[in-house]
Amino acid sequence: MENFTYYNPTQLIFGKGQVEQLETEIPKYGKKVLLVYGGGSIKQNGLYDQVVNLFKKINVEYVELSGVEPNPRLSTVHRGVEICKTENIEFILAVGGGSVIDCTKAISVGAKYNGDAWDIVTKKYIPTEALPFGTVLTIAATGSEMNAGSVITNWETKEKYGWGSPVTYPKFSILDPSNTFTVPENQTIYGMVDIMSHVFEHYFHHTKNTPLQDRFCESLLKTVIETAPKLLENLENYELRETILYCGTIALNGQLSMGYHGDWATHNIEHAVSAVYDIPHGGGLAIIFPHWMKHTLDENVSRFVQLAVNVFQVDPSGKDDRTIALEGIEKLREFWNSIGAPSRLQDYNIGNENIELMADKAMVYGEFGNFKALNKEDVTAILTASL
Ligand code: NZQ
Ligand code: ZN
Repeated sequence: MENFTYYNPTQLIFGKGQVEQLETEIPKYGKKVLLVYGGGSIKQNGLYDQVVNLFKKINVEYVELSGVEPNPRLSTVHRGVEICKTENIEFILAVGGGSVIDCTKAISVGAKYNGDAWDIVTKKYIPTEALPFGTVLTIAATGSEMNAGSVITNWETKEKYGWGSPVTYPKFSILDPSNTFTVPENQTIYGMVDIMSHVFEHYFHHTKNTPLQDRFCESLLKTVIETAPKLLENLENYELRETILYCGTIALNGQLSMGYHGDWATHNIEHAVSAVYDIPHGGGLAIIFPHWMKHTLDENVSRFVQLAVNVFQVDPSGKDDRTIALEGIEKLREFWNSIGAPSRLQDYNIGNENIELMADKAMVYGEFGNFKALNKEDVTAILTASL
């Protein structure tokens, strides 16, 4: 293992009916709240009414920012920052998915900063303070509810970057599996692909002696693989939603990554694709990840063999390592196909016209990827294979 420090101050409040904890949590931070949400799903499923009634009960004054886009945009961050400044907001509550939470993180820093919020995303400004915020999560996917990361899109310049800061951990996150019952089938699939992809991003590294970390990762993957088909048959099953929701948080709250650094190149490539085409994050990952795997296989074939045998139950007898590894990648492709995830960029009507543009966007900070450092040629090859 490598030396490490683990830090995660987010209070996780998990389970049925836990939204009522807002009554005790919000007053700890302020009396004037900005309520941030997306395109309306929380109005349709009743969560909005529940939250607003709780605000009234505890005499919290609130202002709303609605319409946060999937792949949240800088223009929406600007709107939120403006409200915080003019209305003297003391606390922000994000009710929604990763997009709503990521947007809230940028607003929380922007509210305390005098420059443009894009400086935060492009790391020209290193945040030192932020308005406190909490979340009520409505979809299992990103892990943003219990990490400090945020991904923001500048739609004018077609750029999408991740950033994060120790000041952008949520103060608390409330996760009630019932609030994910209404997540439609396609978003449920994208979420599960994203969760598995976070584990893959961790799993491929060159650090020695990580047996417990490997088994954490493998268990999480096996749990999603076992649960996904059942959940897609029964989207309102509490226990299945509960399992996936818990997997989503654990996959990206820092617990898997103690003692080594994961790769994260596939996320970088996907962000470049969705910067140009605005596709769902999990959909993009489902297309690109198996091709990244094939492209980087020879960096350390034994990691892929371990994945194939321990997670995808490939029988290794009489086969060489490369064959076993490739069978594992094929099983991943088959699994994602079986749950209805997209497999080619053409599924989103993306042809080869912007491959170079997307590769340039992915390369903006230079070579990337800890398992294998990718250059523009590598990215172009992976994107071309993904067509
Ligand atoms: O906007 P509403 O109406 O709420 O609908 C959303 C949205 O259309 C819908 N949805 C969410 N909860 C629902 C629901 N519909 C019905 N019932 C519910 N309970 O689902 C759609 C997608 O929501 P979104 O928040 O965009 O999904 P997700 O959580 O997958 O977030 C994706 C964003 O997070 C970034 C991605 O790049 C993307 O921008 N990521 C953030 C990360 C982080 N902060 O750690 C890491 C990830 O790797 C990822 O990059
Ligand atoms: Zn992701």
